[in-house]
Amino acid sequence: MSNHQAWLSLIEFIRRHYQRSEGLIPLHAPCFDESEKRLVVDCIDSTFVSSVGQYVTEFEQQIADYTGAKHAVAVVNGTMGLYLALKVIGLQPNDLVITQSLTFVATPNAIKMHQADPVFVDVERETLGLCPQSLNQFLTEQTHQQNGQCVHRQTGRVVRACVPMHTLGFSARIDALLEICNRHNLALVEDAAESLGSFYRGKHTGRFGQLGVFSFNGNKVITTGGGGMLITDDAELARHAKHLSTTAKIPHAWLFEHDEPAYNLRMPNLNAALGVAQMQKLPLFLAEKRRLALAYQQQPGLVVQAESPNTQANYWLSTLICQDQTERDVFLEFSNTQAIQTRPLWTPMHQLPIYADCLRSELPNTEWLAARVVNLPSGVKCRV
Ligand SMILES: Cc1ncc(COP(=O)(O)O)c(C=O)c1O
Repeated sequence: MSNHQAWLSLIEFIRRHYQRSEGLIPLHAPCFDESEKRLVVDCIDSTFVSSVGQYVTEFEQQIADYTGAKHAVAVVNGTMGLYLALKVIGLQPNDLVITQSLTFVATPNAIKMHQADPVFVDVERETLGLCPQSLNQFLTEQTHQQNGQCVHRQTGRVVRACVPMHTLGFSARIDALLEICNRHNLALVEDAAESLGSFYRGKHTGRFGQLGVFSFNGNKVITTGGGGMLITDDAELARHAKHLSTTAKIPHAWLFEHDEPAYNLRMPNLNAALGVAQMQKLPLFLAEKRRLALAYQQQPGLVVQAESPNTQANYWLSTLICQDQTERDVFLEFSNTQAIQTRPLWTPMHQLPIYADCLRSELPNTEWLAARVVNLPSGVKCRV
């Protein structure tokens, strides 16, 4: 089957799946029904639309229950959740943090917010996540231990943490990454922004490191409009994150006193109301996205990313792997011209001028994937 035939039948399949013979098929759109409307109206009626309210508490409890984490802290978005997670693990100015170049810019940006710098190591083709071998090689060859800290030999800078990302909802080999981080005295913070509903060996992503961070941006598996959530099993990290998200205000009935410079990073109750309603539908959303992903994988003549052994993906965005960049660009043009919204991965961070000077190891898989991956429409069919 030629490329062109395979692509034509893919387009036909997508239109049939979404039962739309014409008009735009988006990459991923939110799905709401009466329950979101009911809870948002209830929130407005209560007048507790701001950062304190029963929906914030309820949503935090739902995420803790669903993931199995002991604590969950709702925040204004995933980016600031990553910022806060790095703050509470003690990231200092001038530190280094190892992460992947194949990620959304929020990951290195959250590191930069601390006047620290990202170091980019490679990802695996199989999982799309940070490569344990690449991480181990960087740490073994370029760092040593000094007073219980991991220090980059050439610059003398402390390597404080590692932030792997569960790319597009495919779980990284997070147990291997954790073992390496422990051996080298690095904190592990998981950028789980895209992976609510993704598991590694039956344990939810975001639960392996000291903290994990989700995003509920409008394009994610569930949305609160904008929002994020930290999860952790560590009561002190959770308390500190919550405190810092609340301008570090010392609890008191009327006095305004604060014991650390900190910001207002809380999720408003209005957004949490959306989250509470969306959580009821999460299992349905995941089942439908999985059915679609498996059907994409059955399409003749195409290579579509499947979950690797021991993992359960949320299939946030189904992923076509083209033969090369030329084929990718022709497919992007072809599909978008037919009003089927598809898109490539992010330009890798080390190729952006803002991060081009950062330390990095060889990144062959990052560049290979960035040149070939195309995300296909993956949203649930909204029957409202
Ligand atoms: C990998 C990754 N990290 C962080 C974020 C930031 O989340 P937010 O948009 O909620 O700030 C996103 C998504 O938007 C993301 O995809």
